[in-house]
Amino acid sequence: MSAGNGRLAGRTALITGAARGLGARIAKRMSEEGARVVINDLSLAAARSTADELGGEAVACDVSDSAAVASMFEEAVSLVGDLDILVCNAGISGIEGDNAARQRIAERAEALARGEQPEDSLDGGIAGVTDEQWRRMLAVHMDGTFYCCREAVKLMRPRNRGSIITMGSIMGTFGRGGGTAYCAAKAGILGFTRALAHEVAAYDVRVNAIAPGWIRTDMTDPLKPLHPMLEMQTPMGRIGEPDDIAWAAVYLASDEAKFVTGQTLSPNGGWYMSQ
Ligand SMILES: NC(=O)c1ccc[n+]([C@@H]2O[C@H](COP(=O)([O-])OP(=O)(O)OC[C@H]3O[C@@H](n4cnc5c(N)ncnc54)[C@H](O)[C@@H]3O)[C@@H](O)[C@H]2O)c1
Repeated sequence: MSAGNGRLAGRTALITGAARGLGARIAKRMSEEGARVVINDLSLAAARSTADELGGEAVACDVSDSAAVASMFEEAVSLVGDLDILVCNAGISGIEGDNAARQRIAERAEALARGEQPEDSLDGGIAGVTDEQWRRMLAVHMDGTFYCCREAVKLMRPRNRGSIITMGSIMGTFGRGGGTAYCAAKAGILGFTRALAHEVAAYDVRVNAIAPGWIRTDMTDPLKPLHPMLEMQTPMGRIGEPDDIAWAAVYLASDEAKFVTGQTLSPNGGWYMSQ
């Protein structure tokens, strides 16, 4: 890929949950900037399809599985040699395939259109959150981030180089009704990011978080009926595009950010000022 300016020339990057959405766009922009990318996702076929478009490599694993993550890092290193950049992007909203949630969203949008103020709850509220839903949310986001960062630090610290990017959310600091598990997971990632940044700063391994605002991807597709409201709430008047996040990731991974660590960069159109 040569569309970019070589900002990541000669680097290798592993991006989790990158078969589609923000991860796929981050991989594309990193690849254009010269990085050799390794695409992770749950399905090898899906990861490979994205990797093939970018001339990259594909590895499959569920990031919430500790042993599988360790094997994935071994495989990634055997494919590309070493690891300079890790993006812990894999994530779930918790309402994937949940028709009741879609129904609640539609009702909420209708209430807003009537000028009413509906209850601020997308998952039905804490009383309906099962132990399994709670644990899965924390497992994918928090365990996944921990397992991947642990493996990456083992590779990066001895080489005194590396950039790790975690994926938070405006929900990690703002919070919202009906999203207790997601918000807790994202807040945990932001705290984890700062602690790890302290720990490895002396080894020139930088650790930063991106906290996206509302971005148009498959994850936010069920929220479409609420997009007009979200656009109105956003000072810049629009929902974000995957590139709004991908360019933040390229910056944090590049030498342009060589004095930046322990930070949260939040492209969100002004929806939430200063994370
Ligand atoms: N889209 C937004 O508005 C938004 C806002 C804030 C934060 N985020 C965060 O950004 C990240 C990417 O979101 P997106 O909008 O691209 O979502 P998406 O649903 O479009 O893509 C997520 C990808 O992660 C993969 N994935 C899910 N669980 C996995 C696991 N256990 N192991 C490996 N891969 C797994 C999925 O298969 C999918 O390809 C997530 O962490 C999400 O929480 C998104």
